[in-house]
Amino acid sequence: MHHLLVTGGAGFIGSNFVRWMLQQHPDLQVTVYDKLTYAGRLENLQDVAAAFGDRYTFRQGDICDAGRVAEVIAERGVDTIVNFAAETHVDRSIMDPDAFIQTDIYGTYVLLEAARQAGNLRYHQISTDEVYGHIEGDHRSLESDCLAPRSPYAASKAGADHLVNAYFITYNLPITISRGANNIGPYQYPEKVVPLFVTNALNDQPLPVYGDGQQRRDYQFVLDHCQAIDLILRKGVIGETYNVGTGTEMTNLAMVEILLDELGKPASLIRHVEDRLGHDRRYCLDVHKLMDLGWEPDYTHEEAIRATVRWYVDNRWWWEPIRSGEFKQYYEQVYGKRRVLSAP
Ligand code: NAD
Ligand code: TYD
Repeated sequence: MHHLLVTGGAGFIGSNFVRWMLQQHPDLQVTVYDKLTYAGRLENLQDVAAAFGDRYTFRQGDICDAGRVAEVIAERGVDTIVNFAAETHVDRSIMDPDAFIQTDIYGTYVLLEAARQAGNLRYHQISTDEVYGHIEGDHRSLESDCLAPRSPYAASKAGADHLVNAYFITYNLPITISRGANNIGPYQYPEKVVPLFVTNALNDQPLPVYGDGQQRRDYQFVLDHCQAIDLILRKGVIGETYNVGTGTEMTNLAMVEILLDELGKPASLIRHVEDRLGHDRRYCLDVHKLMDLGWEPDYTHEEAIRATVRWYVDNRWWWEPIRSGEFKQYYEQVYGKRRVLSAP
């Protein structure tokens, strides 16, 4: 691993990963390849550009553009691809799945094919716990479980996982896959629940909790995820998939309680609203396979939520311009006509 191509590196997790890798590995070169959709922002990497000089390079482009992908791989001398590039928000996938199918499935195919054509480059796919669908009872998803995605987003990501495995089996492409839980932390676009609720609360706007708020998620700090990917790149077994999460779960309402407590804001901001279509009630991962490689999370849910809240309090320069742009239209579309539930 000498030169990483980080696709989607200007997004939330990708930008945290680029910073982490450049800090940890002094000999590593990183090229970010990103289309800069609404979710991709060069501000997420401005400190990286300043701190790491020519060890870091940015190239704008679409992962669906095979010619441009091949050109950047050759130009930069890439030996390893880590693919974060995706459309990522479930609510947007419910309103309009098209870009999800295009980027998350076809784009992954283009990258796999480029890796193969360039001489079987090392390839790591960033996937999600959502590919398992919602999990009944006390079960924790194992990497060997069948995939049962239920939203257009999750189905697109599952399609990509199948393609990545197919390239390993058919062409011996040296792949690994990681399936992450709900990440939170710096630079997450405020459409996702934690940054949405923190920034709403800071503006004294209501927090729209879907349904009864008893859905269960594993809110993981983004740097724990980045460390895990770093480890898998170095020590993961080729052809294998690794779950990445704390292995614990909490309800959305419990998350909101901690968030409001950190901000010193009242529970009266909570509004139970009409539920998301097909809303998955519970995700929970078994993470023993990753722990056997020597990984464990540094942050509990509560530490992750409090650290994330503090970052948004301290970094209004980052999110205030976002909330005043395209976001306003999106917010009106998703929440404008949403029914408020009198009792959840
Ligand atoms: P994000 O939406 O913040 O960033 C996605 C990035 O991909 C953006 O920079 C965007 O510009 C770029 N992009 C989108 N379409 C592209 C295209 N066609 N070509 C090139 N670049 C393109 O997403 P994120 O939350 O950082 O998620 C990154 C990856 O991690 C995704 O693959 C996602 O499925 C996965 N994941 C996310 C979470 C989470 O909680 N956020 C959890 C598990 C897995
Ligand atoms: P989200 O951040 O969209 O991640 P995902 O759906 O990929 O898990 O949502 C996390 C949880 O929060 C999920 O159960 C849906 C819920 N949620 C709300 O209750 N209200 C909201 O406005 C949003 C965006 C999410």
